[in-house]
Amino acid sequence: MNKKLPQFILKKMHDGEKIVMLTAYDAVFGALLDELDVDMILVGDSLGNVISGFETTLPVTMEQMILHSQYVTRSVSNTMVIGDMPFMSFSESQSQAVKNAGRLIKEGGVNAVKIEVGLSNIDTVRSIIASGIPVMAHIGFTPQSLYQQGGYKVQGRSEVDANNLINLAVTLQETGCFSVLVEMIPSSLAKKISDKLSIPLIGIGAGPECDGQVLVTHDLLGMLENSPPRFVKKMVDTRSLLKEGIRSFISEVSSRQFPDSIHEFK
Ligand code: KIV
Repeated sequence: MNKKLPQFILKKMHDGEKIVMLTAYDAVFGALLDELDVDMILVGDSLGNVISGFETTLPVTMEQMILHSQYVTRSVSNTMVIGDMPFMSFSESQSQAVKNAGRLIKEGGVNAVKIEVGLSNIDTVRSIIASGIPVMAHIGFTPQSLYQQGGYKVQGRSEVDANNLINLAVTLQETGCFSVLVEMIPSSLAKKISDKLSIPLIGIGAGPECDGQVLVTHDLLGMLENSPPRFVKKMVDTRSLLKEGIRSFISEVSSRQFPDSIHEFK
């Protein structure tokens, strides 16, 4: 097996190389990211916003996560694929969490799961790991706790909150997570967390001191209508290109230029 599993990511960190993680929700993007050799592909519950058009990730179901995980894993050969545990798929009981993490592995074909974590669900994480499933813990701003956290807000600004996040990250490492993902915290706090951890810290809106970076692929490609969050760097403006292509088709069909002789059967 040639898969980049957690051991590969850990080695990359020890070798001082930055780790690259991006989202995919279908076979087109799965194949693209695999071909371009990114280190980890996340089938994120952000598919709720990006693909399904919801305002939050809260309505995303296990069935959706499994289906989109299947689309991605069918098209990926080398890259580790991580499936997101959607809202309410792990909060009822530890057995519910283990069952649903297992479904992402068995039915979705992913290699690991990501779960949004607070101090109250450490035992849930422990149970999933005990069942043999690699876990990436998501801390800081956790979109599934949007209402509890008071909206899309940078976390860990006060000393108490910062210390809580540092302790949480260390506890998650001790619990056996192979990596911690931290979202929307000050860079200085990310550095403190990173200094305490011997597992990779992957950041989104958490500054340059993390061991790796993750973004929503559709955001960095400029594919979406809404402006992305401030921490996103739009690398290309794909939406304009897509519009150009679609406009050309409309225009050529309307003016009877398409189909021309090379695109028809005689
Ligand atoms: O669901 C997702 O895509 C995520 C990333 C934004 C980290 O959680």
